[in-house]
Amino acid sequence: MSDKVSPAGPGNGVAGAAGNTDVLGARPMSVQSILNGSTKRLTAAGIENARQDAEFLLADFLACDHLKLFTQGAKILNPDDVMKVAGRVERRAARCPLQYILGHAEFLDLSFRVSPHVLIPRPETEQLVQEALKPFEGLPPDRRLTVVDLGTGSGVIAVSLAKRTQQARLFATDLSPEALALARENAATHGVEERITFLAGDLFEPLRPFGLECAVDLVCSNPPYIAEADHPTLPPEVRDYEPRGALLGGPDGLAVVRRILVGAQAFLRPHGHLLVEIGFGQAAAVREFLESLDDYDNIQLLKDYQGIERLVLASYYPWSARLQSSNQEA
Ligand SMILES: C[S@@+](CC[C@H](N)C(=O)[O-])C[C@H]1O[C@@H](n2cnc3c(N)ncnc32)[C@H](O)[C@@H]1O
Repeated sequence: MSDKVSPAGPGNGVAGAAGNTDVLGARPMSVQSILNGSTKRLTAAGIENARQDAEFLLADFLACDHLKLFTQGAKILNPDDVMKVAGRVERRAARCPLQYILGHAEFLDLSFRVSPHVLIPRPETEQLVQEALKPFEGLPPDRRLTVVDLGTGSGVIAVSLAKRTQQARLFATDLSPEALALARENAATHGVEERITFLAGDLFEPLRPFGLECAVDLVCSNPPYIAEADHPTLPPEVRDYEPRGALLGGPDGLAVVRRILVGAQAFLRPHGHLLVEIGFGQAAAVREFLESLDDYDNIQLLKDYQGIERLVLASYYPWSARLQSSNQEA
């Protein structure tokens, strides 16, 4: 099949045989035909949810809800617009993730701008946000919470937490200046930029000037946790498009996770909480490492919707605090 035809060239069909009215080409076409042609093209390229992706691409172009696309089936697009849609379809056929083409991703109840500089937010991370504030339920409304989000990427965790509680003052760090710029933009879009300080640098390092040692209520993170050797085995959407720095966590995937578990001890207040997303098969090693640090208590591993142990939760309860409370009891 002549898939390599440029979507920009007039008269160039993007897929299928000549004479097929659903083949995307530089001519007026109905929304229904474009949808059919896009679906065929994406199916031929091996895209799993071809129809759905075709609907999202076209609906976004038409600035309408994809569920309402069928009401516009007879609408005719001019050749320029057909070729613009065809260009997007070709990007998807080349395995560029849908969200990078659209420029946004949905996370919980909010929409976030995304670009190839940031990881596309995942449903597992939505669960992290839903768990994050549970330990603080019932706190007096005037009690301030200090929260740190390490490796903030597009800012989904920090922004969603800021939206969920007015009590939180957040600090979000990332190594990537491009990611931080996008995170700041997302925070502004959602009206929480004044409560989040975005900082460039390595994990906890940029927090040092803020005097947050022993003062943080919650350290949370969705760090890079894929083992380097697994990178070639990832789906092309992930392997070829998402930033390596957002994915890879050293030889066993846990290099950044371990640094977070160690580093958090200096910043968490006694009884503060740690919440970190981890990868498939890493739970036992993470639990063992946390236990070896001695100062964490109440270690829990929470499963995601697929039954994979995905979140590690722990309370920080250093020996100094344990001694103090046993002295008080005595
Ligand atoms: C898996 S992505 C998570 C992004 C976002 N929090 C989310 O859940 O969608 C990990 C992020 O950590 C950042 N990162 C990787 N190593 C880092 C480090 N040592 N210090 C700070 N950020 C780091 C990457 O740039 C990337 O944005």
